[in-house]
Amino acid sequence: MNVKELLSLKNKVIVVTGGSGKYGKCIVEGLAEADATVITTSRDPKSAEGTAESFRQVGYDVHALVVDQAIPDSVNTLKQQITERFGRLDGFVNNAVSRPMKGYGAPLEQFELSMRDNATGMFHLLREMTDLIVRSGGGSVINIASMMGMKGPDLSNYEGTDMGDLPPDYFFHNAGLINLTRYMAKMHAGKNVRFNCISPGGLFNDQPEQFLKNYCKKVPLGRMANRDDIKGLVVLLASDAGAYINGENILMDGGLNA
Ligand SMILES: NC(=O)c1ccc[n+]([C@@H]2O[C@H](COP(=O)([O-])OP(=O)(O)OC[C@H]3O[C@@H](n4cnc5c(N)ncnc54)[C@H](O)[C@@H]3O)[C@@H](O)[C@H]2O)c1
Repeated sequence: MNVKELLSLKNKVIVVTGGSGKYGKCIVEGLAEADATVITTSRDPKSAEGTAESFRQVGYDVHALVVDQAIPDSVNTLKQQITERFGRLDGFVNNAVSRPMKGYGAPLEQFELSMRDNATGMFHLLREMTDLIVRSGGGSVINIASMMGMKGPDLSNYEGTDMGDLPPDYFFHNAGLINLTRYMAKMHAGKNVRFNCISPGGLFNDQPEQFLKNYCKKVPLGRMANRDDIKGLVVLLASDAGAYINGENILMDGGLNA
């Protein structure tokens, strides 16, 4: 098959969680540009609809649905709505994250809240979306983790800033998500569903100047990720061009951790 056809997401229905967030918007945009029917989800209906509407205005097929992955009924409702409105699911980008924990010494309740969203809730949603994909005949699941799930913190990035009290939950659940990806790939052998993980580096978001200086001088490409960087990788993994990539974790950090 021609490589442009392999990369096309035409007629594929793909859900992106946290589609109104920083990386989420880039992911929705990339999938929509490759002709997917994208369902962007958010906890807040206004936010989800605002994102979907902004993409529809430029001609893309983007729809909004609401889910709070920490609430089991909300996950079940999302599954039902996808089935009723779209009749199938070909892809799931597991991108949402909550950051309730504010630092190493923060109350344990904040760690517990994080696990509710980023571990238990995330897994419930992952399992239900996988079930829909399997019932649709197969497809692709893409987990978005972080380079911080692969390494300990590099505290020198934060010298001269007040950003250095990094919360432990983020390192814990992102590392777990990377290995959960491998587990899912093996557990779904023979079901025509692929599971891969992307572990991005930091996305440029007007961080303090000192942090940018510290960070960018260590990146061989000399910069943070921009809003286009994740798009091609997500499209590759979601499309038939990535049909033989399964159980993989791809570090996307401009060479920072090379
Ligand atoms: N921003 C970065 O620099 C960066 C770097 C590396 C990895 N990542 C990864 O990228 C992904 C997205 O991160 P981001 O920085 O774009 O986050 P963000 O905070 O901009 O967006 C996350 C989204 O998830 C949603 N969310 C939170 N809790 C939820 C819940 N219980 N149910 C449903 N949705 C919920 C939020 O409302 C938000 O829209 C995460 O997996 C993160 O680990 C981000």
